[in-house]
Amino acid sequence: MSKRVLVVDDEPSNRELLIAILEADGLEVGIAEDGTSGIAQVTAFDPDLILLDINMPGTSGLDVCFKLKSDPDTRLIPIVLVTGLSAVEDRVRGLQCGADDFLTKPIERSELVARVRSLISLKSFTDELERAETVLYALARSIEAKDPYTHGHCERLSQYSIKLGVKLGQPEEQLTALRRAGIVHDIGKVAVPDNLLLKRGSLTQEEWKVMREHPVVGERICAPLKSFRLVLPIIRHHHERVDGSGYPDGLKGEQIPVMARVLQIVDVYDALTTQRPYKRAFSVSEALETMANEVSKGWWDPHIFAEFQQMRSRRAGPIALRQPTPIVEYSINFGL
Ligand SMILES: [Fe+2]
Repeated sequence: MSKRVLVVDDEPSNRELLIAILEADGLEVGIAEDGTSGIAQVTAFDPDLILLDINMPGTSGLDVCFKLKSDPDTRLIPIVLVTGLSAVEDRVRGLQCGADDFLTKPIERSELVARVRSLISLKSFTDELERAETVLYALARSIEAKDPYTHGHCERLSQYSIKLGVKLGQPEEQLTALRRAGIVHDIGKVAVPDNLLLKRGSLTQEEWKVMREHPVVGERICAPLKSFRLVLPIIRHHHERVDGSGYPDGLKGEQIPVMARVLQIVDVYDALTTQRPYKRAFSVSEALETMANEVSKGWWDPHIFAEFQQMRSRRAGPIALRQPTPIVEYSINFGL
């Protein structure tokens, strides 16, 4: 399938030149004559790369670049800004707007083709990675879907643990890891037989042994994905306890990664406030009281729990899902 390049330029002669070079190189070319229609074309044409003129009447190339790079749905599309030879300031502003590369007018054929080809092949790797992540999320959701009682648990976990992470001042890469972990933390349950996963009574010792394997299995499933580097410790350690009585490694206190301690607070809260085959849904105050008891027993991180409690007391009621979490990219601007 040929790759698609979107050319956004108000000058007909520039467009014609770019189209001629790119089509001769086997690329499919879409065109837009100004910034506003360029943005609209991104959705309609779904380009693998955008060649964007900076100086256009109305919405400038820099504005278009900034808008596309701020949108989780389009920020991975490479953008090459086309500038005048001496426009150093444009380049600086272009970099600030997130541009991936620059081309200088007058356009030189071999340079254009080389830059376009190299950025498009980079984009193919990103697409592949996205596909791999999407498969993992689908698997995680299919496990969740087996149990009607846990419906929406992964999404709630994802959203609420990010909110708690933001409150704790965690950097964006850790928040992204939390979002991903919220969805895939129990992916290892794919190795747990259904009769055990959906059992209404309490588990036997042998059954517990199988169930306790799920963090390790989950870590193994996600390990090949390099972008999940920060997610793996959360998956592995989301059932540890501060006093060392958790699993799989019996880590204590600070040995348990902070993000795993964040996720487990939200995980437990959500389990308590939703109905399960073996229990009714607890009210917010019942759940927080239960967890406070468990904190004093040495199970959960007292500082993180205190922050969570503060967050919950401002908004009573079970965690509400307002909108689906974007699957691949995390945006800090969603509300709960
Ligand atoms: Fe789990």
